[in-house]
Amino acid sequence: MANLLVLGTQWGDEGKGKIVDLLSPAFDVVARYQGGHNAGHTVCVRGKKIVLHLIPSGILHPGTLCVIGNGLVISPSAFFKETGDLEAQGIGVGPSRVAVSRGAHLIMPWHPLVERVSEERRGAKKIGTTCRGIGPAYEDKAARLGVRAGDLADLRVLREKIAENVAAKDPIFRAFGLPPLDAESICREYAGWAEKLGPYLRDVSELLHERMKRGESVLFEGAQGALLDVDHGTYPYVTSSSATAGGAATGLGVGPKTIHGVLGITKAYTTRVGSGPFPTELRDELGRTIAARGDEFGATTGRPRRCGWFDAVAVRYSCRINGVDRIALTKPDVLAGLGHIPVCTGYSYKGEILKSFPTEPWVLDEVVPEYRSLPGWPDSLHGAADFESLPRTFVDYIRVLEDLVETRVAVVSTGVERGETVLIESELRGFVDLARVRAGSAA
Ligand code: IMP
Repeated sequence: MANLLVLGTQWGDEGKGKIVDLLSPAFDVVARYQGGHNAGHTVCVRGKKIVLHLIPSGILHPGTLCVIGNGLVISPSAFFKETGDLEAQGIGVGPSRVAVSRGAHLIMPWHPLVERVSEERRGAKKIGTTCRGIGPAYEDKAARLGVRAGDLADLRVLREKIAENVAAKDPIFRAFGLPPLDAESICREYAGWAEKLGPYLRDVSELLHERMKRGESVLFEGAQGALLDVDHGTYPYVTSSSATAGGAATGLGVGPKTIHGVLGITKAYTTRVGSGPFPTELRDELGRTIAARGDEFGATTGRPRRCGWFDAVAVRYSCRINGVDRIALTKPDVLAGLGHIPVCTGYSYKGEILKSFPTEPWVLDEVVPEYRSLPGWPDSLHGAADFESLPRTFVDYIRVLEDLVETRVAVVSTGVERGETVLIESELRGFVDLARVRAGSAA
């Protein structure tokens, strides 16, 4: 069966957790390829809300192996806090359910401290990061100073790497008046993690290769959103990893041809958390109303998300750079009851219409969005059983969006629960085995 990649096409928080959880029964393995515990994937099952940060969103299905790739940065304390919370809820997360790449980099105690200082130093230009140490961990990876999960296997190597890092960070810590790092206590702490994390560590690339050779299928799970990608997002207002589809190959050690389809999760409006350009942002009461209705508060930091209208220029760009085959449209229920819903169809910049999404913040700050106003739908969409029972005006909204972003919608999410989803069979054929999905969500 085909492997599928699921990612966010906007600035994150599109509802990937729900869709990955829903589709997981059709796949044997769910594999995360980038990011860290900056991500917050929310899954609601029978009224119970489960927020995942590092663990892939397939974990609620006992038959699914969850894989954490080399493209992630892992805080051992966050990992074990999350596995502990899941176990307390009766969800198995032992090494037979979760595999962690030996090549994943570790978040070390100095990373969140360095990040706080660097955010403060930026002043008004701060990125608004989650302050989990994600960026500095990727910086050390690129600087060839990083400590990898596999280094935990040899305490002599671990000790050497910690000493090397402490020496490198010392002048920075002194310059900013931070208390010096204690290499010895860091070594003791990470030696403790070595024992606990050891059984989870695997050669993930080989593991995936073997599984696929056996005919098993893989769902590749992205975190954040394509517009936060370090290369293709609104740099520098981005995260530090490759959130686009290309990141799956490098972040898991699989060839690009193992990705047979790409499903782009797209919210029916736009949100962004943290700083950075946002052309269709609503800075008024309506924006705050949408945020309240959509429960738009960061799953990781609790920060309110900025809200705005659907931006077809941004999503069309995202579909292009990720090779999105189909879209899963989420949270249209939040817009129910609005008389008219504007959709951004183009940007004008210095008197000209731009052909493509510009990623430069100084351009995006000055573009003037052009809107087309579409009739809203009066009723809540909750409980819509199939595509035919969706309100006419909402179907028209979908059709306009499809034309604008040049990609078909295959899934419509009408609420937080698994059952509140319309799966468009004809559009999903060849990408997802729907019989397996249905059997899994009934379980
Ligand atoms: P970092 O990933 O903590 O370095 O934060 C960089 C930017 O990405 C900030 O604007 C964050 O708010 C944003 N960000 C990081 N993770 C997420 C996420 O899961 N959803 C939405 N935004 C995120």
